[in-house]
Amino acid sequence: MQLNGSLPAIAAALRAEHRLLRQMITRMADWLTEDVPPEALKERGRMLFEALEDHARYEEEELFVHLRKRSPHARRLVEMMELVHEEVRETLRAALGSPDPREDLWTLLQLSQEHFDVEEKEVFPLAEEPSEMPHPQEGSPCLT
Ligand SMILES: [Fe+2]
Ligand SMILES: [Fe+2]
Repeated sequence: MQLNGSLPAIAAALRAEHRLLRQMITRMADWLTEDVPPEALKERGRMLFEALEDHARYEEEELFVHLRKRSPHARRLVEMMELVHEEVRETLRAALGSPDPREDLWTLLQLSQEHFDVEEKEVFPLAEEPSEMPHPQEGSPCLT
């Protein structure tokens, strides 16, 4: 996705993507409980992963790159989120390489949902708040 906007606008777009991705995750969970052959599950898992990956790259390139400069706390959070993105990539690789991808795909769904929860509660609010406290401009009148 290409979107050149303010950080709050980017965070809003990412929250909207989470809603769509959560629907895809729910559908995938349904398929995992049905009698779907392993190869079909892998194909559906790969399609879900492509949507997750597109979202993750957008986060990394448009949001995290800015947030990591904000504070040590923000940088640590972003690094934790990037680790989970990598864990999701590795889990998908494991699923595709397994004769039965069910367990790895369950892990992928759980990882993704928990990751979305953390981003929504802890990461996106950093983008939605003002980046710094207002401070007097140089040369502005001093009242003291
Ligand atoms: Fe993410
Ligand atoms: Fe996300």
